[in-house]
Amino acid sequence: MKRFFLPILILMLAGTAHAKGNADKGKAKAAQVCAACHGATGAGDGPASAGLDPPPIDFTDAHRASQRSPFSLYQVVTQGLPGTSMASYSQLSDADRWALAYYVGNLANTSEDVTAGEALWNGTLQPRPIETLEELSNSSPADLAKTIGDRQARQTTARKGLRIGAKRR
Ligand code: HEC
Repeated sequence: MKRFFLPILILMLAGTAHAKGNADKGKAKAAQVCAACHGATGAGDGPASAGLDPPPIDFTDAHRASQRSPFSLYQVVTQGLPGTSMASYSQLSDADRWALAYYVGNLANTSEDVTAGEALWNGTLQPRPIETLEELSNSSPADLAKTIGDRQARQTTARKGLRIGAKRR
């Protein structure tokens, strides 16, 4: 019973929680808490990164970013990565962790892709390959690319953040 309901609960939380996140919040938090290691632009070159083994992830690495869904990034931020200097940030609010996941997950995208991504999400650009927040949270560009191609997958997952209370048509 438990095993069956837990994933569903997580998906529901994922959908509602990250809708609250937004780009500015993620950016401000990252500058405060994450830049020491991951760097001011997310390139993994912050002042505290010297000598760390493994080194902090470079969020501007497009290949690496393509393998990650927002939910997988959220999980790392929540749980940390044991055996590395990446700690758990479960003390941050759920909304902050989602905002951070979307923020760092977007650092490898070009502004052109982000503009297209926002338009796809708002419904002003069609067709829209992803319909729900849950699906978006659980999709990596690499997985999506298998069915809709690289460019569409990149654009579909690229966005600065989800606006608070954003409505989908
Ligand atoms: C003390 C240094 C340090 C700080 C501060 C830090 N990180 Fe990390 N982070 C790391 C290291 C090192 C890794 C890579 C671990 C590995 O390779 O297994 C990592 C990995 C990650 C990953 C996994 C990415 C991927 O593609 O696998 C995410 C997401 C992440 N960090 C987010 C954050 C966020 C968000 C913050 C701020 C709340 C933060 N980190 C603060 C050191 C740090």
